[in-house]
Amino acid sequence: MVISVIGVGYLGAVHAAAMAELGHEVIGLDIDADRIAALQAGRAPFHEPGFEEILRRGLRSGRLRFTTDYAELEPAEVHFLGLGTPQRKDGFGADLSHLESAIDSLREVLAARGGAPTLVVGKSTVPAGTARRLSDQVEQVEGVQLLWNPEFLREGFAVQDTLEPDRLVYGLREPEGPQAEAVIAMLDAVYAALLAAGVPRLVMGYETAELVKASANAFLATKISFINAIAEMCEAVGGDVADVARAIGMDDRIGAKFLRAGVGFGGGCLPKDIRAFIASAEEHGVGEALGFLREVDLINERRRARTVELAGEMLGGVEGRRITVLGAAFKPDSDDVRDSPALDVADRLMQAGARVTVTDPQALANAAQRVPGLTVEAELAAALRGAELTLLLTEWREYRDLDPTWAAELVAAPHMLDGRTVLEPRRWAAAGWELRALGRSAPAQATTPTQTATSTPEPTAHPALGPVGPAVAPTPMPGRTLTSA
Ligand code: UDX
Repeated sequence: MVISVIGVGYLGAVHAAAMAELGHEVIGLDIDADRIAALQAGRAPFHEPGFEEILRRGLRSGRLRFTTDYAELEPAEVHFLGLGTPQRKDGFGADLSHLESAIDSLREVLAARGGAPTLVVGKSTVPAGTARRLSDQVEQVEGVQLLWNPEFLREGFAVQDTLEPDRLVYGLREPEGPQAEAVIAMLDAVYAALLAAGVPRLVMGYETAELVKASANAFLATKISFINAIAEMCEAVGGDVADVARAIGMDDRIGAKFLRAGVGFGGGCLPKDIRAFIASAEEHGVGEALGFLREVDLINERRRARTVELAGEMLGGVEGRRITVLGAAFKPDSDDVRDSPALDVADRLMQAGARVTVTDPQALANAAQRVPGLTVEAELAAALRGAELTLLLTEWREYRDLDPTWAAELVAAPHMLDGRTVLEPRRWAAAGWELRALGRSAPAQATTPTQTATSTPEPTAHPALGPVGPAVAPTPMPGRTLTSA
């Protein structure tokens, strides 16, 4: 089939290359000429395992190309919309302007099809009600139908998630009837290989499909904040959150995934999607129903504040101190720094007067662009050299596997704050390190002077563990959120 993908950011670029991989003829479009030039030259504009390979294979086969010109999309029978829906600058809601302007530009292309059956397929994450509103616009053109087909891909696994998804969700204006069958058959033809491989396909109304995506991300965010709330309890009463997670995760009904406590979630999706979900519920008069998502957001925010506070406890104040942060990306195997907890904590430490060096295997260019004045160091050994405190904030394999004896020889003082609960406490202690971890109580025996002075705070003098309130848990500022598409 001839397919277009409009908006070739993370989601769209991977989708375009994956559709070419399935044997379709694909044209990717974006208004960003630099991005289009890079993709057309076979260069991935972001770090994503396996993506460059399928991009180049698609380009070589002649089935995949990229353009900035809407007129070139006329032959396409199916148009996928892969545009970003970032958080609005003035609040929690989703900014749909990229999607709306793409639809405006597309309408001329659709009209030129002269009534031939054409499918427009929304993949972006949007508030419930968006698909119905947009369908009123595009379905005015004869022969055109709109379907909403949310995307669940994870960064770092984007190619696999696109070619071997857990499920395909089709949202239709009317999920039943002869018109629905024609629309479903057309998208089935696009995904024929996936359906033949047994991927389940679920058909439902527009609003339900939109809610599936919002609910999936809200659930994942809630699961992370749940375990991070338990981490706060563990710190207060002297428990170990990693053991709690392991034990409760063995219950099938709970499941072990997304129970890794630490500095919390970030990225281009979960934070902005839960806020858009809150805003949407409020608009529909059911704000109370999703009010708990505010708490999810606050718990997440509080982990960052707590990390900075713990760094201060470990050093007896961060001002003027040499701190190394391992990780800038919001998660491993990605160079994405949008709303990255690691980068945010590094920035906060810098604002508090610390001399911070950040290292990351892939994300340093993006990090330096995002936080002007940040000191970055690509070499792990060089980054560790002279550090008075090291924070592990993104669990790249090389940091999880770090040899504590080797690292101890480089740093100025062996103090490690494990913000992802991934380091083995005994192994690090045996190599002479003071290891503190979010969600794990401080070691019983204090081994350094700074620890003796600060590791046993009175419960009341422990602001991050106090009751939720604006003084310790400020509502995240929409303006601070990093939301480029
Ligand atoms: C997410 C959803 O998983 C995906 O389905 C959706 O399509 C887009 O949003 P992604 O943003 O790639 O994907 O990241 P994800 O793997 O969900 O991780 C999000 C954040 O949560 C990361 O910062 C990660 O470090 C953090 N996280 C994840 C935890 O803190 N603990 C966990 O147990 C899991």
